[in-house]
Parts: sequence; structure tokens; C-alpha cells
Amino acid sequence: MSGQNPTIIIIFGATGDLTAKKIAPALFHLWAKNRLPQKLKVVGFSRRALTDEKFQEYIQGLVKKDSHIKFNKKTLDSYLQLFNYQQGDFSVKEDYLMLEEYLEKLENDWGQKANKLFYLAVPPTLYEGIFEHLSSTKIAREQKGTWNRIVVEKPFGNDLKTAEKLDEILGKLFSEEQIYRIDHYLGKDLLQNIIAFRFSNNLLEHSWNNKLIESIEIHLNESSGIDDDRGDSYDPVGALRDVGQNHLLQMLALVTMDNPMNFSAKQIRQNRAKIIETLKPFTLQEIKKQTFRGQYEGYRKVKNVPDYSQTETYFKITGELKSPRWKGVSFVLESGKKLPSQRKEIIVTFKQTGGRKNKVVFSLEPREKITILFWAKKPGLDMEIEEREFDFSYRREHEQDGEQTAAYEKLLLDCLTGDQTLFVSTEEVRAMWRFIDPIIRAWQEDKVPLEIHKQRETPANKITRVRR
Ligand code: BG6
Repeated sequence: MSGQNPTIIIIFGATGDLTAKKIAPALFHLWAKNRLPQKLKVVGFSRRALTDEKFQEYIQGLVKKDSHIKFNKKTLDSYLQLFNYQQGDFSVKEDYLMLEEYLEKLENDWGQKANKLFYLAVPPTLYEGIFEHLSSTKIAREQKGTWNRIVVEKPFGNDLKTAEKLDEILGKLFSEEQIYRIDHYLGKDLLQNIIAFRFSNNLLEHSWNNKLIESIEIHLNESSGIDDDRGDSYDPVGALRDVGQNHLLQMLALVTMDNPMNFSAKQIRQNRAKIIETLKPFTLQEIKKQTFRGQYEGYRKVKNVPDYSQTETYFKITGELKSPRWKGVSFVLESGKKLPSQRKEIIVTFKQTGGRKNKVVFSLEPREKITILFWAKKPGLDMEIEEREFDFSYRREHEQDGEQTAAYEKLLLDCLTGDQTLFVSTEEVRAMWRFIDPIIRAWQEDKVPLEIHKQRETPANKITRVRR
């Protein structure tokens, strides 16, 4: 882990939701597994007034609440010692100067310059201000023999224009190799396994094209709704920006990208970007015919959601892939809240032979598994054909619980070791916005009506696939 230099992780938004639910538990897992640098400090930077002790107590509460982590007191105590707190307002330059001074003090205590990982666990609307302050102070300046990296969460920008602007500001401080844009779906084991599964098994890869495949469906359907504490940050974003622009398109990229030949970060990121770039932005006509947006009944009662909100909590988009390998293959992207069931999966359907179709299904939820649907003779005297399943459960029973933080564990470790494979490149971000922007614009202009649907009902049965 980068020579002998110590490392400081600076968390902006240290008392927020993301730190509580993902970062603190994931770091703890890594600490318990001895995967973090030995010389490490985690500095929380947030508005709330806290002492180091109070912050450590807060972190302790989070770790204890996370019941599936087994730990002994010694591990927990040593983990808590990593945490320090620096109070600060993200919009006040003096607070950044104080932070800078504090980081220098830590370095002086070590007698060494430190690597720095700046983690922006804050709503994206705050990014720009934080970037500006980081660049107007010297906090993120290069120091010989150490690295500086920045981690940002999705959505990166609000549309193509704002994403480009953020890149421009970030580019003044950090090079692309230093920027880690998180899409936590890329950190999910089962999705990483798509690449392993596809490119290590000759059996499938040769049929993985438009000659044999008819459609690819991606569903991220959730039974939960928007909690009261999320109304204000969700409402300006909506489902398509929240999960469509990132998680769903990344899943589409993973099932359709070309073989990277080697599993290097550069090659994999390039191939993901290349396939997303082949998605042609829809015309207004296509948007009207092939996109659907809905909102569940009761969403407007969520705290801080206006009672006239036009924000979609559900969407379904159908289209056709355009790259030479996939030309003519239809795709479906669907996601929503308060739907009948929790169903997160990718379904690859093969063209029919003799009236029968095969499917390969990559499921994240309700269980992580890969299923191949095939046809076989029914046991017995007659030649009757029936559908059967090859079912491969990805995780054994006792390993199920860890999945939620496992993605963050992997991503945090990769930030620290400098592996960008599972992080979204600027080319990918831009290509994703290029496809999504026109749809959002048309929706904002009400070119596609918003359908209010009952909770636990799927609204969009009215939309049909592009072909077949
Ligand atoms: C997040 C979205 O990125 O992904 C949430 O902001 C969504 O709205 C979540 O619920 C789904 O992630 P997971 O890991 O629970 O499938």
C-alpha cells in the first residue's frame, strides 16, 4: 500500500447517511480483515459540532448497529482510534484552512507526508463549492512521494453540461487517474462476475451477439419507497437520474461490452465506455413511444416533497442496440420504488428455435444467482419437452448478509490501492448523460405524461417492447 507513507481519509459529510450506512461499516470490515494501511487516520469533516471522542462514539454506534459484523473489542477500539473530527462548513474558506492545518499537524506527528483520499459523502449539489475551496486552498496539493485521490458519488452532475463543468473544475486539481467516480453497482460481486462469466466460458461468448440474442432486459425494482429523510435530495433527482443514468446503463454495458482481452482498468473502462457511446439519443418521437414515467401514490406525502411534485419514481425505457455486434437487439431498462417485489436482474433472451427460447438471468435480488433457462425432455415414455433451470447460487447462505457493504468494501480498497477498474471514467459519464439528457428534457416539458400508480402495482404495462 504505497510504500511507507501514512494515509489520511478525509470524509466530507462524515455525519451523513452515506458514512453511516456504507463508509463506516465498510472501513470497519476492511480494518477487521487487516486490509487497511497500518498508518492511517480518518478525519471527519462536517458542520455538526463534535469532539473526537463524540465522533468516535458515533462511529462505534454505527458499527455496533451493523449486527452482521462479528468483532472483538480490541479490533473495535483500535478502529475507533483511527477517527478524528474537524468541524467545518463546506462553504467557508477559513474552515478549509483549519482543516489544512489539522492535516499538517497529523503529518508532523508522523514526521512524514501522507497520502490523502478525499471522500465526498455529500449531496452532489455541494460538489462544486467543495472543489472550488479545495483548489483555492492548498489542501489537495501534490506532495512528493505521496498520492492524492478524490472520491465522488453518483450522480456526477445533473446533466451532460453540469458533468462537464464539474470535470473542468476537478481537472484543475486532479488528473483523471486521481478521480474515483463511484457507481456502487460496479462494486457488486455478482456484476463483476458477469465479466468473468462471459469471458471465461467459451460456451456463451460465441453466441453473445445479435445472431442469437433477441433482447436484454434490466430491472432494478424495489418494494421500498422514499424515506422521509430522503425527500429533499431525491425529489430534484428522480428515478432516471438516481439509478438509470448510472446503475442500469452500467449493467447494460457489462452484459454487452466487448472482450477487454486483458482485465486492466484502462481496457475495461474503455470497453464499457465504447458500448455506452453506441446508444443513440432518442428523438422526441422515440421518447414519446418508448419511454414511460410513473410516480407511486403517496410519494407526495414524503417529507420535503412538494405536493405538486412531477418527479418520477418509476421509469421504463425500451430501445434497440445499435453497435454492429448488437444491432437490432431490443433492450428494456426498468426501475421503480414501491413496486410489488424486490427484483434486480438482467435477463438475456435468446432467439427462439422451434418455438422455444433460452434465457440467461443474472439476479442480484431477491438472491444473487445466475440462472440458465433451457429445454429438456420430460422424464417418461413420451417425447415431451419442458423448461428447466440451471441455477447457480452465487453466495452460500451464511455469506448473504455481507453483500450490502461488500461493494463499498471493495471500492474503498480499490481507491486506496489505486485500481480504477470499478470506477466510472469521464467518457462513460458523458456517454450516459448524452443518452439520458433528451429523455429528461422531454419529461420536464411534459411530452410524456406522468402516471400516478398504486403502491405495490407495476404501472407501465402499457409500454411495449420496440419489436417482436
Ligand atoms: C442507490 C440509489 O444508488 O441505489 C437508491 O440512490 C437505490 O435509490 C439504491 O435504492 C439501490 O442500490 P442497492 O445496492 O440497494 O441495489
